[in-house]
Order: sequence, then structure tokens, then C-alpha cells
Amino acid sequence: MINKKILIIGASSGIGKATAIYLSQKGAKLVLISRNAEKLQQVITECEGDDHKFASIDVTDTEKLDNFITDHVNSCNIPFDGLVYSAGIEGTLPLKFLKNETLEQILNINAIQAVLVSKTLLKKANFSSNGGSLVFISSVMGSLGQPAKIAYCMSKGALTSAMKAMALELANKKIRVNCISPGMVVTEMSSKILDSISEDNKKDIEKMHPLGIGNVIDIAKGIEFLLSDNSSWITGVDLLVDGGYSAQ
Ligand SMILES: NC(=O)c1ccc[n+]([C@@H]2O[C@H](COP(=O)([O-])OP(=O)(O)OC[C@H]3O[C@@H](n4cnc5c(N)ncnc54)[C@H](OP(=O)(O)O)[C@@H]3O)[C@@H](O)[C@H]2O)c1
Repeated sequence: MINKKILIIGASSGIGKATAIYLSQKGAKLVLISRNAEKLQQVITECEGDDHKFASIDVTDTEKLDNFITDHVNSCNIPFDGLVYSAGIEGTLPLKFLKNETLEQILNINAIQAVLVSKTLLKKANFSSNGGSLVFISSVMGSLGQPAKIAYCMSKGALTSAMKAMALELANKKIRVNCISPGMVVTEMSSKILDSISEDNKKDIEKMHPLGIGNVIDIAKGIEFLLSDNSSWITGVDLLVDGGYSAQ
């Protein structure tokens, strides 16, 4: 991992934050993006090494993100070697309450923008001519269903499918594209879900993970593997890091 330059979208909390700190310990140079500048500044202070950068950008502001990435590479002249797309939102709504706007918003942030950020990042000057690795954070819900999670499952299924098509399209440029699909890990997002359900439901969720609920570092280690040269012959893969959830 030493000396690779990685863009992390959704780096202010949860999996993205843990990944930033872990990759910095492995020698990566990082550029961190999400909306909350204060939280990103805090993540930078927890990272090892210097030269990390951050910018407060809403990922749905495609033009601002595009301009930032291009200006950043122009000013430092060091192209990126990889991407971690960890921005995501969750929604729990049964079909009868589901509105078009909710579907579009979740699909946009969780899947469409992952593809559009990749498009910007892979413009000639922005990305290493030696190739690199893109890692999208999907979910076990991308291949398994759950009641009231239609929008979320749809968005993660779309992300996983887009990843496979991109992997095939970009292989001749030595750019690998993979997903990590976590089961439930403790983050702000999952805490909101756990806080809103009964103790019995919490126990049920725990039981569905044979190795127990996961920690963000479990996901960060998988991401580091997919970004590193240790996975140089792996592309188009949805790596389930879920404590056995999807083995059942
Ligand atoms: N936690 C789990 O159990 C679990 C399981 C499976 C999959 N996942 C997936 O893992 C990813 C990370 O989730 P997490 O649990 O780490 O959630 P989290 O703690 O809520 O973090 C989500 C990140 O996304 C960023 N974000 C959200 N909307 C954004 C926007 N419009 N523009 C820019 N950044 C945005 C947030 O930053 P700002 O608020 O600063 O913008 C934050 O950094 C998500 O894709 C999620 O679906 C999580």
C-alpha cells in the first residue's frame, strides 16, 4: 500500500473514516471527501503521516466534485491510484410508503454517483497510467432482500452490477473494480437502525451474523486488500465481509 494515493468518498464517519485511518497507517496518501468539514478535519488529525487533504463536497454536486478532483491533481501533479466509495444513505420504508423521490435519492447517492465519480477520476491526467483499483462499498443487501429495504437493496444491487460491467470495461487499462459487501458493522448508520428497534429484534440481527456484528476495521482490512497489489488478479468481485450472514 505504501505511497499509493487514494480518494475516499464518505470519509467523515463509519467505514470511510476507519478506512482512512487504517490506510494512512499503511503509508497511503489520502484525499477525503464528504459534506461535514469539521468531521473530515478530525479524521485527518487521527490519520498517520502528513500531506493528506480533504474537501467538503456533497457527492451529488457532480460539477463541484469534478472540478475539485481535476484542480487538485493539476496543482500537485500526482495522479490517483485508487478510490474507495463509501458514501451511502439508508432508508427503511415499506412499499406502500415509498415515493419516487426517496427511490431516486437513495439510488443516486449509493450507486449513480459512484459511477460518476469513477468517470471523473479516470480522466487521463487524474489517474495513474499504471492502472489502479476502485472499491465500492455495497452491502449484503445488494444480493439479499429484507422487508422495507426496497430502495436500499435496489441501490446496492445496482452498484454491484455496475461494478462488474466497469471491471470488464477497464481491465485492459489495468484498472480493477470490486465491491466489498459488509454485513452489519457498528457505525453511525447502523446505530440509527439498532436504536429504533426492540431488544428482541436486535438479538435476531445478532443471531443472523454467525461471527457476531462486525467492526469497521474488519471492512477496512478488506478494502486495503482490494486496493493493494496483493489482489492484483482480482477484479469484478463482490467480496462479502459479513461474519457469515450470507452463508445461510
Ligand atoms: N454500517 C453497516 O452496517 C453497513 C452495512 C452494509 C453496508 N454499509 C455501507 O457502507 C457505507 C458506509 O456506511 P457507514 O455505516 O460507514 O455509514 P455512516 O457512518 O453513516 O457514513 C456514511 C458516509 O457517507 C457520507 N455521505 C452521505 N451522504 C453523502 C453525500 N450526499 N455526499 C457526500 N458524502 C455523503 C457521510 O458523510 P457526511 O455526512 O459528512 O456527508 C459519511 O461519511 C454505506 O454505503 C453503507 O450503505 C454499511
